[in-house]
Amino acid sequence: MTSSSPARARRSRLRRQKVSGYAVVLLALSLVGTLYTAFGAPSGQAQESVNQSMAVKEGRELYLSGCSTCHGLNLEGGSGGPSLIGVGAASVVFQVESGRMPLAAGVQQAPRKTPKYSIKEIDQLAAFIQSNGGGPTVPSGDLTDGDLQLGGALFRTNCASCHNFAGSGGALTYGKYAPELTPASARVVYTAMQSGPESMPRYGDNQLKPEEKRAITRYVRYITQAEDVGGASLGRYGPLSEGLVAWVVGVTALVGLTLWIGARA
Ligand code: HEC
Ligand code: HEC
Repeated sequence: MTSSSPARARRSRLRRQKVSGYAVVLLALSLVGTLYTAFGAPSGQAQESVNQSMAVKEGRELYLSGCSTCHGLNLEGGSGGPSLIGVGAASVVFQVESGRMPLAAGVQQAPRKTPKYSIKEIDQLAAFIQSNGGGPTVPSGDLTDGDLQLGGALFRTNCASCHNFAGSGGALTYGKYAPELTPASARVVYTAMQSGPESMPRYGDNQLKPEEKRAITRYVRYITQAEDVGGASLGRYGPLSEGLVAWVVGVTALVGLTLWIGARA
């Protein structure tokens, strides 16, 4: 009894030290956690808004050197082009990613061209113009994840009258035309609906819900991009070319085999 008492006291002192050791670690951890939530987490948001204001700044430079002669130093428009206040990022992406802007002066309807700006620069221009008066924006991420069946049905009722059932385009009145849809990227298809260029109607989110626009975007890409129908594209001539290649290769092989057997005999 008497001999075990100092041992027990030592053990309980050890246990107390251990417990207070845990407490210190726990306290330190929770302090780190608190500090992180106080200073760490918002810095993510801060970083994002820094990136955003950088994009606006870069976009302003691009705008002043490439667009302001026609659209005005403050986007107010002029004799060379309309005001861009409130047209929104969607309109900018549509116009610049399809190469329509910057415009080569003096044409009836801005034709599609090879884009002059990279996607990054287009997004900077869009951020700058969006920051002056707002307007329709472009959703980020995959725009072709909609329902293909629904997209087909909506395309036939809303778009085929001008662009044709195959998306190959057609003439409109007064020398205007609805273009072929093949070269349009998913973003250009989506933003065409968002912005309604020239005589094309604008399809706001009340006319076509975002998921309906995604469905149409997927359908347009589906009917215009040969590789989406499956099988090797072989220069995008579709399944016919695949059959033809199989036939030519097969027949050549057979003829070769026959000649070889003939030569041996
Ligand atoms: C040579 C003059 C000219 C230049 C340079 C030019 N634009 Fe345009 N822009 C026009 C004209 C004219 C229109 C209207 C034509 C049309 O709707 O087809 C237009 C239309 C637009 C629209 C559509 C506006 C709307 O109502 O939705 C946008 C967006 C646009 N331009 C952006 C730009 C950007 C960004 C640049 C620079 C990269 C640029 N433009 C350079 C003349 C110009
Ligand atoms: C009233 C006729 C009309 C209807 C309806 C119409 N469009 Fe258009 N569309 C046009 C015209 C005109 C242009 C050319 C605009 C320009 O040159 O600036 C165009 C341009 C486009 C482009 C750009 C093609 C390119 O060169 O990159 C796409 C994509 C497009 N339309 C998709 C659609 C979709 C999707 C629908 C249905 C939701 C639709 N359009 C409905 C007339 C129409």
